Amino acid sequence: MPCQVTPAVSGSIFALMIRALLFSLVSTSLASAAPMKFDFGGDASVDAFHRERGSGFEIGAIPEKAGGFITAAGPFLFSVILPEGNYNVTVTLGDPNGVSDTTIKAESRRLMLENIVTAQGRQVTKIFTVNVHRPDIAGGGHVKLKDREKNCLHWDDKLTIEFNGTRPCVSRLEITPAPDAPTIFLLGDSTVTDQSYEPWNSWGQMFTRFFKPGIAVANFAESGESLRSSLGANRVAKVESMLMKGDYVFVQFGHNDMKDKREDALAQYEKNLTALVKRVRTKGATPVLVTSMERKAGVTKSTHGDYPDTVKRVAAAEKTPLIDLHAMSQTLYAGLGANLNSAFQDGTHHNNFGSYEIAKCVVEGVRKRVPELAKQIADDVKPFDPSKPDDPSAFKVPASPMKDPTKPDGN
Ligand SMILES: *[C@@H]1O[C@H](CO)[C@@H](O)[C@H](O)[C@H]1NC(C)=O
Ligand SMILES: *[C@@H]1O[C@H](CO)[C@@H](O)[C@H](O)[C@H]1NC(C)=O
Ligand SMILES: *[C@@H]1O[C@H](CO)[C@@H](O)[C@H](O)[C@H]1NC(C)=O
Repeated sequence: MPCQVTPAVSGSIFALMIRALLFSLVSTSLASAAPMKFDFGGDASVDAFHRERGSGFEIGAIPEKAGGFITAAGPFLFSVILPEGNYNVTVTLGDPNGVSDTTIKAESRRLMLENIVTAQGRQVTKIFTVNVHRPDIAGGGHVKLKDREKNCLHWDDKLTIEFNGTRPCVSRLEITPAPDAPTIFLLGDSTVTDQSYEPWNSWGQMFTRFFKPGIAVANFAESGESLRSSLGANRVAKVESMLMKGDYVFVQFGHNDMKDKREDALAQYEKNLTALVKRVRTKGATPVLVTSMERKAGVTKSTHGDYPDTVKRVAAAEKTPLIDLHAMSQTLYAGLGANLNSAFQDGTHHNNFGSYEIAKCVVEGVRKRVPELAKQIADDVKPFDPSKPDDPSAFKVPASPMKDPTKPDGN
């Protein structure tokens, strides 16, 4: 099932020509790094997405103008066609005549701003940094997407921003290329990837919310992937092609690797993980190895065989930061006790609450093990003790309108 709700573009020559023209216009304006401005409280139009115009609202409601801002009774999603890269998005939120409460996600449900509340008559301006990427690899080749990824919001040619909450009120949006923003690249499986649909969710798509603006998270994990298949699908090559000095690469594999029954599978995994660590370093970037979080059945016993220990051994041998999510997740699950089911959608995959708690564990790992990056943790993020998880009934991140009960690949 394709990820996008709107129909694909017509392939007519005319449409393609307009598209090419649009791309050149967009890239010309971006070359000068001029921000794209949408003054919804003023004269910016509020219409459905049109490829020829290059922007507009899709999937959710078309919001209405309401005296200096736009709002809708349900979630609304604004899309802009943009080249691959990192962008700073500056949003102005609030209602002159009432309170507002807005949560913002980007691309495939990546949490950017959580429950921003403004009092009556107040406006706030917030910045978040978002990564937009395509399958093409600079220098040749492309990521071999699975069918389920084709046309996903995180692989298409647009930046999509989702507004939801009890009363989302948006007056302005400014999008500025941020090519120098340090990037945290993620490689991993279904427990890391940007899951396109409710009720599934993974920590990689909650991660941005915990960092200050100016840091981008670029998620190249995918459901069902192992280190071996990520290498084969050119996901690793794509990340390597984009790496710059000062970037980070978080690697969390194991769930699907352990199903490789070849006699030398684990030895190859160790060798390939070591080689990846070394290659990331040659670019001046920092590899961070993350052990796989446990499955629901793994509160007191490991279901991951020798994989977590192998990851630890590589981190120690290469003297690169290790985040022992495997151990932290067991502590978290034990801490959830009778609430354990409230974090899971099946025996392996998490829901919004579960992935938010797992993301907090990874952020805590950053705080302890990756000191340079820890400086970029958002000021409102307090140290997290996995043995004392949040109360699931107090969790307020609203669900997205994109839904599909189909289980993600991998387990
Ligand atoms: C993007 O936002 C960050 C955080 O506010 C800021 O430090 C950086 O300079 C911005 N980049 C651009 C190109 O505006
Ligand atoms: C390791 O890398 C080699 C060479 O790229 C590849 O053929 C093999 O499938 C990989 N194995 C694993 C377990 O990553
Ligand atoms: C957010 O969007 C979801 C999905 O469409 C909807 O069920 C919900 O009512 C919206 N608002 C809040 C506050 O959750």
